[in-house]
Amino acid sequence: MHIGGIPVRTLVAMYGTPLYVIDEEAVRAQCRAFHRAFAATGVRYDISYASKAMCIQALCRIVAQEQLSLDVVSAGELHTALSAGVDAARIHLHGNNKSEHELYTAVRAGVGYIVVDHFDEIEALERIAASLSCTVHVMVRLTPGVVPHTHASIATGQDDSKFGFQLRGGIALEAARRIVRAPHLVLHGVHVHIGSQLMDAAPYVQAVSRIAEFVRAMDDALGVSVGHINVGGGFGIQYTHDDHPDDISDTVRALVRAAQEAFGDAMPVIGIEPGRSIVGAAGTTVYTVGAIKRIPGVRTYVTVDGGMTDNPRPALYGSTYRAALIAHDDRHSTDTEVVTIAGKCCESGDVLLRDVALPRVHVGDWIAVHDTGAYNYAMASNYNRFPRPAVVLVCGGVSGVVVVRETVEDVVRLDRMPPWL
Ligand SMILES: Cc1ncc(COP(=O)(O)O)c(C=O)c1O
Repeated sequence: MHIGGIPVRTLVAMYGTPLYVIDEEAVRAQCRAFHRAFAATGVRYDISYASKAMCIQALCRIVAQEQLSLDVVSAGELHTALSAGVDAARIHLHGNNKSEHELYTAVRAGVGYIVVDHFDEIEALERIAASLSCTVHVMVRLTPGVVPHTHASIATGQDDSKFGFQLRGGIALEAARRIVRAPHLVLHGVHVHIGSQLMDAAPYVQAVSRIAEFVRAMDDALGVSVGHINVGGGFGIQYTHDDHPDDISDTVRALVRAAQEAFGDAMPVIGIEPGRSIVGAAGTTVYTVGAIKRIPGVRTYVTVDGGMTDNPRPALYGSTYRAALIAHDDRHSTDTEVVTIAGKCCESGDVLLRDVALPRVHVGDWIAVHDTGAYNYAMASNYNRFPRPAVVLVCGGVSGVVVVRETVEDVVRLDRMPPWL
């Protein structure tokens, strides 16, 4: 098995396990696929990488080189992007509870726009912009009442959501009114994010129609129009053979067509914020098998040197993955066995893959889990005080560390001992 032209066993020998490997060409290919899909429609567009999927400096730089904007949700993500050299004007700030400090930092940095999520934030932003004698472009985030078919934890477009202003009951319209009245705020556009791991265009088409309704209501009630709509991220990827996401170009074509029908001559710039679909399939996590426990008639546990600390998604959402075995002695057995790949954390729920068929596994073999680029490193923790793995970028036969492996010293770096101990 090779990634970016390098045998996985070479990467393991160079960097150890557990190891996140990111295939740079695969990231660039996804960025270009989105560009091609929009370019084919002829509309004005803006593709923003939702950096929460994996926010490290190297990735921020790659997506910026691919002419993507970047969305951040915290001072930490903003700092990562700025320190990677991303142009502040191409950064957008999100978040359902941005602190005053985060808002201030973003305004001072000169981010392109801020997506407002609640009424207090409108006041805070106006105050900050006035204190800095500048104007701030804002998008109003709608909760459009669209219920996507995805896991409840990653659905955001339904009315019962902590995100955004509900369309229902005139709440979003009131937000727009307050923005329009605020002397230092400019209503740049309207934003929605319906949910993640969406398989087709239907929820986007529905969202576009709700946005168009809202834009008409704003025009009627406030006499304002906007030049930009953003339908968020959520473009699904194939984790297993049960996932069948539509092609990016088909989804983009359908959502653009819906916008053209809804907006006619007043067609705004169409923005999207893909995260998972940019980086998910580009990532692989490689583990070493440390223990095998065969419980006759019950299950065979293959335990690896990582787990929910480097990939919490199976424990959080029951997410499923595909895996491959790389035999230590390079001799793959032709017999297969069904095993459960467990992590080494002190939780029974620390299982990465359940009931997968692999060639017979031995201690010391390596297991590669595919499509771990999104929401893996980004969600990693130090539970059980396990140091986080390194992240390696590979491209055309060359590899380089983009995040250094943590050590046990890193794990205690922020601990302090009070004097009475
Ligand atoms: C506002 C917003 N935009 C974009 C995304 C990215 O979603 P995905 O990674 O599914 O494309 C998210 C994910 O949570 C989000 O909350």
